[in-house]
Amino acid sequence: MRVHASFLIGDSEYSAFTIRTLAAFKGVRTNLEKPLVLWLTDLHLDRSSDTRKIGFYEEIRASTASVIVITGDISVARHLPLHLAELAAAASPRKVFFTLGNHDFFGSSIAKVEGVVAGVCRSQVNLQHLGHGEIIRLNSDTALVGHRGWGDGRMGWGARTFARNPDFAAIADFRGLSRGESFALLRKLGQESATYLRSVLPYALSCFEHVVVATHVPTFTQAAFYRRKPCDNLRQPFYSNLSAGGVILRIAQRFPKSKVTVLAGHTHCAAQFQALPNLALRVGGARPGFPGAQGLFEVSAAGLAQKSGSPVSRCSNRGGTQPPA
Ligand SMILES: [Fe+2]
Ligand SMILES: [Fe+2]
Repeated sequence: MRVHASFLIGDSEYSAFTIRTLAAFKGVRTNLEKPLVLWLTDLHLDRSSDTRKIGFYEEIRASTASVIVITGDISVARHLPLHLAELAAAASPRKVFFTLGNHDFFGSSIAKVEGVVAGVCRSQVNLQHLGHGEIIRLNSDTALVGHRGWGDGRMGWGARTFARNPDFAAIADFRGLSRGESFALLRKLGQESATYLRSVLPYALSCFEHVVVATHVPTFTQAAFYRRKPCDNLRQPFYSNLSAGGVILRIAQRFPKSKVTVLAGHTHCAAQFQALPNLALRVGGARPGFPGAQGLFEVSAAGLAQKSGSPVSRCSNRGGTQPPA
């Protein structure tokens, strides 16, 4: 196993982070040489009928997946604990690794939801919220890391956009803020994921040939679509996380012999973008109210290979009026 020594040298805060990362790395292993990852995103289970939910949970239960990875927008704050517990039960005993998306905070605040989710994860042993320093070993070649991510308001027309962002009304952290302050918060949230990945990704790439990064918002605007068309300047500020994308790009350049695959959602429109020969972004498609899997993927040093599931062209915004996710 290669270790990037310079990663271990730093100030005390950095060192503390490294120690937590090492502890998680040693403690969480799937221990399978050919793991199959079932990727889910933008389930929006609060909008699903019970019949569809039960059918979807049955699909998870019957899946041959070794682990389940979810890239956010599982539900809304009020129903999130129940829906996480239901997903954990459907997947059991397999692990469910997840990030949260902006909709998961709707009706509450970021801090409150994070606290509630920590409690749910303590009571559900197969449920793990990504973004706390862990590097998940999927097999000897491949690891998983993740952080929620956020549309950081920097792409396209930035703060000059007149597109509506539902986060501003639905999440307590944004309420009462001026438009300028709201965009400053979007930027801060995007930078949080960038800072996190800057800390954890080099270490993961020094240990594994392939690292899967789970996050909610596309890290490159080239794979951010709206109604089956590339996202325009109006919506790009809310549909891409430039801060995280820049960090991932620079780190991938430093590790040209390793591979990085970013999994994201949020736009509800499936797309792929090859940012570098060793850096790919996959964005999942979704139709709120109709939860389904993006597919089953075999992971290896060569990347992610889709075994079965929805075609990559799946897009829910076809002719509809689906607002930003
Ligand atoms: Fe979203
Ligand atoms: Fe969504």
